[in-house]
Amino acid sequence: ISATKTAQSVSTMATEEENVGNIKRQLAKIFDVSLRATVPEETDVEPLVAACAGNFGDYQCNNAMGLWSKIKGKGSQFRGPPSVGQAIMKNLPPSEIIESSSVAGPGFVNVVISKNWIAKSIQKMLTDGIETWSPRLPIKRAVVDFSSPNIAKEMHVGHLRSTIIGDTLARMLEFSNVDVLRRNHVGDWGTQFGMLIEFLFERFPNWEEVTETAIGDLQTFYKASKQRFDSDPAFKERAQQAVVLLQGGEAKYRKAWAQICEISRNEFNRVYERLGVELEEKGESFYNPYIPNVIKELTDKGLVEESQGARVIFIDGINIPLIVVKSDGGFNYASTDLAAIWYRLNEEKAEWIIYVTDVGQQQHFDMVFRACKRAGWLPLEDNKYPKTTHVGFGLVLGEDGKRFRTRNTEVVRLVDLLDEAKNRSKAALIEREKAAEWTEAELEQIAEAVGYGAVKYADLKNNRLTNYTFNFDQMLNDKGNTAVYLLYAHARICSIIRKSGKDIEELKKTGTIVLEHEDERVLGLHLLQFAEVAEEACTNLLPNVLCEYLYNLSEIFTKKFYSNCQVVGSAQETSRLLLCEATGTVMRQCFHLLGIVPVYKI
Ligand code: ARG
Repeated sequence: ISATKTAQSVSTMATEEENVGNIKRQLAKIFDVSLRATVPEETDVEPLVAACAGNFGDYQCNNAMGLWSKIKGKGSQFRGPPSVGQAIMKNLPPSEIIESSSVAGPGFVNVVISKNWIAKSIQKMLTDGIETWSPRLPIKRAVVDFSSPNIAKEMHVGHLRSTIIGDTLARMLEFSNVDVLRRNHVGDWGTQFGMLIEFLFERFPNWEEVTETAIGDLQTFYKASKQRFDSDPAFKERAQQAVVLLQGGEAKYRKAWAQICEISRNEFNRVYERLGVELEEKGESFYNPYIPNVIKELTDKGLVEESQGARVIFIDGINIPLIVVKSDGGFNYASTDLAAIWYRLNEEKAEWIIYVTDVGQQQHFDMVFRACKRAGWLPLEDNKYPKTTHVGFGLVLGEDGKRFRTRNTEVVRLVDLLDEAKNRSKAALIEREKAAEWTEAELEQIAEAVGYGAVKYADLKNNRLTNYTFNFDQMLNDKGNTAVYLLYAHARICSIIRKSGKDIEELKKTGTIVLEHEDERVLGLHLLQFAEVAEEACTNLLPNVLCEYLYNLSEIFTKKFYSNCQVVGSAQETSRLLLCEATGTVMRQCFHLLGIVPVYKI
């Protein structure tokens, strides 16, 4: 009996147009027809289709057992799950997708996918484009709130994780034809600005001409101003006054604030540039004008209560309340997030709002989301849109198993970290003889693709909830499950095609894929499965699912197909070159979704 990987119902999701490459969906439709015929009186049965884990077939339908417990005793013609399975199999409508079927154990209906259909589907993807295999989601617009560092405070590896994961999620949704608003919710508001502004005035009387270099490093500036704040009561008072003036919109204070933000922004941008990540900043300050009305609405709806001088929202089952107005009358992180959700739902018309932060903020988001549900802004059911999702991730650890730090226990400057990844990959490339044939520009470009790709992939391949250990040697190893290995595998495929001397675009038009050898079929089936894997990764927001798929694809290509099926010079050359091209195409799409720049030669 083959166990199921994930027996999930696939027909419940809305699809605008069909994704003909999605095997699971196609099979679900076929099994649906059979289920209607097998048990006409049961109208709410969803077909349960999953890839087979064993060797009985490629996919299986798992409805027989559940169906049996529903119908037994109702005078059914069946004698048990196996006979239900037999009937499901017998009632399958004719289809070019299924080559053969069988019933195993307690009624699992196993099907073998037709290799002609696999070949045809891959060929169609090659002509029509990989977009025809993209996931279909029932929404038009999403917000991905990610990266979101805090002005003047450190941008740490947690923000790096958020940047990498958030960018991938945005890319997956974009691939699914969703309009994505990539939001950088920077911490640019709050009481610390009074202190920073006052310190700026004091340290640089000519602050209006002050440049970034004069202030030097904002983090040091922050520390120095904090020290001043803590040690001098007069300064502290001026700083508190500055907050009031800033929040009241006083021009001079707004200007100083904007200048401080600009310095941080430049620093953040250096990281985004290296990573090739696009973000649009709408910081906490942006939502500030919306807070009073939002609090008023929540108060009118009876959600807000008085507690120890503050105004709070109590959430069932959580013993601390969500503070929405502090006892001094000021707003906080939660008030801003409530206003941001209001804005995103009503002004930006987002149907899915995704927040990427460390797991430590889970309770905050849980409370905010539940307050929105109580307010009637969001449906109570989790599977309905509009919806909000907190995508949490674990810590980044150093070799010592503790929070990642540099040797001198200082925080890690992200730009330095990324530069080191690039420099190490460059050094490794120079050691390979091939690099001697490259131009300096090519070497730079490949070193960046490999170095930054390695950092991203090392992060994304893990289940995001687990902590992960940052290790340059491991992530830059060209043999393990790393971006380096994958990029090299891709480059090798490109070089096979180049060496054949054939015009691949021409072959796409004139050639035909035929899957004869067992390893050709295995590769073909795996290629086609990209469609359902992308859908799973996207609907469940799990980049690691995509990484695992990509790694397996490289392994199947290299260890099975390429080891056992001669390509160039063989009788099947055309078909096999097309399979190489299809593999390259799917790999490049995976790289794109993971934010990794592909490499064409090594
Ligand atoms: N600035 C926050 C931090 O550094 C992350 C903000 C996340 N987004 C949000 N809407 N709360 O932890």
